[in-house]
Amino acid sequence: MGLIYAEQVDFMSLESMQETHEREIKILNDIDKLAIDHQLDKTDPAQLIAKIEEYIVHVKEHFASEERLMRKYNFPSYDMHKTAHDMFLADLDYATSQWRRSANIEKITNFVRKTPEWIVLHVNTVDTPTSNYLVKMIEKESISG
Ligand SMILES: [Fe+2]
Ligand SMILES: [Fe+2]
Repeated sequence: MGLIYAEQVDFMSLESMQETHEREIKILNDIDKLAIDHQLDKTDPAQLIAKIEEYIVHVKEHFASEERLMRKYNFPSYDMHKTAHDMFLADLDYATSQWRRSANIEKITNFVRKTPEWIVLHVNTVDTPTSNYLVKMIEKESISG
């Protein structure tokens, strides 16, 4: 069982975006599994905490790399896509600070468990057209040298 499956999100025409999405799905499922283990036997949450820290870094780099590519190739809907990322990051930051302040790890694991719905929608409606645009621009660039 997993929280989210790679098949739920569209396959990206741009390989780097596809790899990033697969990596994120893997981290989310790892967090879900570690959180279940922690709830069941109340073991030391060190592994879970390390995975959550990895997730936070990953998400920021995920969004930043898409934004770099969009700027490089003048993606027309950059502002809309960037705003969607920023809104998600604001929610992530809020959940992170709630967790750090209360030392209640569920503040962040509950947030993480709710993210697949957002990710599936974002990837399929926003990342897909972005990826298709970027691939076209990169191809054009390689033809014209
Ligand atoms: Fe993405
Ligand atoms: Fe995105």
